[in-house]
This record gives sequence, C-alpha cells and structure tokens, in this order.
Amino acid sequence: MQNFKINSLEEYNQAYQKSIENPSKFWAEIAENFLWRKKWHTVLKYDWSKPETKWFIGGKLNITENCLDRHLKTRGDKTAIIWEPNNPSEKAQHISYKQLHSKVCQFANVLKASNVGKGDRVCIYMPMVVELAVAVLACARIGAIHSVVFAGFSATALAARINDASCKILLTTDGVYRGSKLVALKDIADEALKVCPSIEKSIVYQNTKQKVDWNEKDVWWHDELKKVDDNCPAEEMDAEDMLFILYTSGSTGKPKGMVHTCGGYMVYAAYTFQNVFQYQENDVYWCTADIGWVTGHSYIIYGPLACGATTVMFEGIPSYPDYGRFWEVCEKHKVNQFYTAPTAIRALAKHPTTLVEKYNLSSLKVLGTVGEPINEEAWHWYDENVGKKNCPIVDTWWQTETGGMMMTSLAGITGQKPAFATLPFVGIQPSLLDDKGNELTEDAAEGILAINFPWPSLARTIYGDHERYKNVYFSAYENKYFPGDGALRDENGNYRITGRVDDVVIVSGHNLGTAPIENAIDEHKDIVECAVVGFPHDVKGNALCAYVTTYDNVQESDNLIAEVREIVSKTIGPIAKPDKIIFVSGLPKTRSGKIMRRILRKIASNDTSNLGDISTLLNPDVVQEIIENFK
Ligand code: WT7
Repeated sequence: MQNFKINSLEEYNQAYQKSIENPSKFWAEIAENFLWRKKWHTVLKYDWSKPETKWFIGGKLNITENCLDRHLKTRGDKTAIIWEPNNPSEKAQHISYKQLHSKVCQFANVLKASNVGKGDRVCIYMPMVVELAVAVLACARIGAIHSVVFAGFSATALAARINDASCKILLTTDGVYRGSKLVALKDIADEALKVCPSIEKSIVYQNTKQKVDWNEKDVWWHDELKKVDDNCPAEEMDAEDMLFILYTSGSTGKPKGMVHTCGGYMVYAAYTFQNVFQYQENDVYWCTADIGWVTGHSYIIYGPLACGATTVMFEGIPSYPDYGRFWEVCEKHKVNQFYTAPTAIRALAKHPTTLVEKYNLSSLKVLGTVGEPINEEAWHWYDENVGKKNCPIVDTWWQTETGGMMMTSLAGITGQKPAFATLPFVGIQPSLLDDKGNELTEDAAEGILAINFPWPSLARTIYGDHERYKNVYFSAYENKYFPGDGALRDENGNYRITGRVDDVVIVSGHNLGTAPIENAIDEHKDIVECAVVGFPHDVKGNALCAYVTTYDNVQESDNLIAEVREIVSKTIGPIAKPDKIIFVSGLPKTRSGKIMRRILRKIASNDTSNLGDISTLLNPDVVQEIIENFK
C-alpha cells in the first residue's frame, strides 16, 4: 500500500489538475513514496523533436528494493504471489514477500555466477511458473535487462528477438502445461538457439519433467541454485537505466524492442495499479494476462509488488478443465480485483451462465479489461454475471509503449460507461486530431488519438533503432506521441477507443502486425504475394484474412491452406494463423503498386456497400473477383 491513494472524485480532479499545471511538482510528490538510494535533481526533461524523455534525472534506485526489500519489515510474511496451477488437482502455492525475496536473490546470484552483469540482456522464454517472476526480478536485482518472450512464440520469432538484443543468456523450461496439452518448449528453444550465437548459456527450469535433448550450453536451474546462497545486494541503477526490453509488433516486418527504464516506469506502474484498482491492503488481486505481455510486467509483477499487494499468477487457461475455471479460481482465492481481456470474456459468454453461477464470487470488488475495445454486449455480460452489477468495471486503454494505463476509470471513483475507456488517467493529456493533424477542440469529436505531454512510463526508445522510434511515434504529428489508435470523445470528455489506424490488428488482445505475417506467407514456394487484413470476429475481436495469389500452375487446395497456416504458425506463432485464406488472381493496387488494404478489409468484413472509388486502381476488375471468391 502506498500513500498516494485517490479516494474520491474530488481528489481525482485535484490530482489531475495538479498533474497538468505542474507536472514536475506533482510527480515528485508521487515519487517521494518510493525508496531511492539517491534523490533526483531534475524531475523531467524532454524534447520530443529528438525525441528524448527523461524522468527523475540523477535519481538512483533498484526496483526490486521497492518491490521486495522494503516490504520485509512490515509485510514479510504476507503472500506476495499466489500461484495457481494449470491442473486444478495440483496444489496452489503461496509465496510470501520473504520467500520471494530469498528466491530472487538466490537466482540473481546464479545469473552473476553465469557472468551476467549490469546492462547484459537476458532472454526469458518461460511459461507462467513462479520462477518466471523470480527470473524477471532477479535480472532487475543485478541490473541485467530482461527481454521476456511469450512462450507461445515460435522458434523463428524467439531467435529474432534474442538476436535483436544480442542476449547473453536464455532462461527456459523443459515443457509447458497448457490445458490438457503438453508443449515441448525446450525443443522450440533449441531450434532457435541454432541461430543465436550471442547466447552463452541456457538455464533450464525443470517444470514438466519430460524428456529433453541436452546441448553443450544447457544447465539445469536446480543444479545452478545449489552453488549459490541467497545473499545478493541490489545493484544501484540510475532512474534512466534500462529495466527491460519488450517486443511488440509494428507495421513493418521487424518487431520493435520497446525499452523501459527503471525510475519512471516503477512510479507510474505502481501509482496506476493502486488507484485504478483501488487496491487495499489484504486484497487479493488477479490479472489473467501472461507475463510475456506488458500487462503481466506492469500489473502482475512490478505494479502490485511495488504496492505490497498479493498478486495471483495463473498457469492455466480459461477453458480447462472447463469454462468455469476463472470463477473457480476467484472463489478459491477470494479474489477482490479481477483483470482480464475482452476476448476471454466473449469466449466465456458463449457458454451457459451456470458455469459462473456455480461459484461464490462475493469477494469480487473490481473488474477490469485490457487489450482491445470491449463491445457493449460483453461489457454487460461481465457486469451482470461476474460483477452481479455490484463491481465497477475499469476498461483500461494503454500499450506496450506506454508502460502503464493511460485512459481508464478509477474503480468506483470516476464514472463508467460501457465500451468507453472513459477519462485520461492523472498526468495524461490526450487530444483528438483530424487527418491533417489539427486538434479537434469540440467537446464531442472523433479522430486520431495523440498524447500531448510526457508521462513517466513512456518507452524511451526502440532497442537499437532510435530512428524508427522517432518515425513511428513522434513524426506523424509534431510534439505529440502517436499511439496508432483512433478514438471518439463524448460531451462529458469520455473516450472510446475505436481501433487501430495502422496496419496492426488486435487479435484476441494480441497486437499483430500484418506485415510480418505477409512476409511469412510469401516465403511459401507456391505463393506469389499476399495481403493480410483484420475483420471483426465475435470472440477474438478481430481475426485475420489472408488474400493469396499463387503461381499459375499451382492447384489451390485445402492442403495449401493448411501449409499457409502452418508457415505462419512456425514463423510467428499459432496466434497469428489466419482464420480465412482466400485465393485470388491478383490484389487491388494503386498505380504506384501499393496494395489497397482498405478495400480488402471491407470485403473481409462483408461490407461491400461502399468500397469508394476503385476506378483509380491499377486493376479494378480484380475487386469483383475477390468479392465472388470471398463468398
Ligand atoms: C493496443 C496496444 C495494454 C496492454 C495490452 C495490449 C489496444 C489496449 C485497449 C482498450 C481499446 C485497447 C489498442 C492499443 N488496446 N487496451 N482498453 N480499449 N483498445 O498492449 O499489445 O501493446 O497493444 O491494444 O489498439 O494500441 P499492446
């Protein structure tokens, strides 16, 4: 629990006002609540033409002292992490702050003994076991930069991320439990490591005890632990030193390694956590995300632990052993705040409500959503069946790049409106722009979303490519951060996020660039070219449709469809597999050869009423053919 809780609408308004009028003073006061080895001399310096943003300049700290050490006296025996296994017949684990501190320090010593030091990159490719959280914090303890890669990614995707950051060490597991399935994770990691020369050692946590191949660089996690103790003083970090890299998709093939730094990220993650969820000491908080995504970084690990909270880590999936699992876990651990994705809500809403009613959900106080727009129907299902109309819902809009929540209500403090992320969080100054970049000043308006002023947890760069960082986020509109989303605002200042305005599609809450998927499909020997677009899907929010042209002599078959799906799965991961694959003789192109994805998106959405002027296309005839083939 931090001393910066907002307790009323009036306090929110005051805090917001102050954060806008005097951001430096405001954030300095919030930052005072943390443990600093040395205080900053300047709160904020920024120049978005470079772009450069620095917070708490001169400040020294270690985030793990804030997440662990500082709690030992006051809540050492309090549960930090409740770990709930994939298999409900296995026992849950309760790890106290003391125990977590000890595990983190011990594993930090393993990393040190493996020649990992401040600034070295460590790739973490692990499922939702306690050791994943331990690994993340152990890196932070010694100032190594963690790069967590979601354990559902393919070998190719993993290798690309390891190589982009020249990671020195890989942390992985033998296998993964996923519902009734067993995934051979180490096999995938082994495949990746064939092309990752920077990796010196792979430390393997024994999770499933399945048989694995053993290579020269492999060592067992448990063997390494035996060689070290749990005494590991934290490395002193500068506020602006890198804390982690986390990859997100972009509109070009290469994933973007978003860089977050120690000071600002910590302050903002904790401040948003405490206030958005209105967390109180002894509450049990559960975010169902995977730590492989930013939601897990900020709101399973860093935000909750910096506030001394009890955070649930769930190894399983919502549908195993049945679609009542989430609610079973809520009842079992008496969860007070529950944070999940709209896609999960929609999937659960397809099943009988008896699966919810079976469980006692009276502990729930606050519900949250993240990752994509939530439709009104799903919102009401969540509100009525899970919240029993008695729990505020926080719809939190933010991004890997923003590090923490940007637009959201504060549970029970500010108002809610179905399908609206509602108000900017304290310190956030949004604006809506027209196509030309002019600010829309009317109260109610719809346009492109931009952020006018820095906040502490903004990603500082793209690892190794500051130019791209500048181009993607700071070049569209002068002196503004461009998130790539569209939004509308009602007359009361509530924002509704309408979706991406670039070539990124949010599928089941996962941010997928269409370009890397197209590149993967184009690799198939029978395929000339393709275009991938998103279309609305009732469970996933969006699904992918690939329009594919083949060489003349190629037979368009179910086999080929399966191969296309497989190549995507292998190159990127199963989540990126297109739902629909449509063979066409050509793609609609402008005279300069640019694929008109707008038209393809409309066709995929079954909306061919207004395709706009297609006469300017290089090949207008192809459009009718595509419409026919689509049916
Ligand atoms: C994109 C960012 C934030 C952590 C998980 C996703 C979409 C996210 C919402 C929301 C509408 C949302 C946006 C955003 N998005 N939350 N509450 N309402 N859209 O992080 O993978 O970086 O994706 O997710 O389009 O730009 P990410």
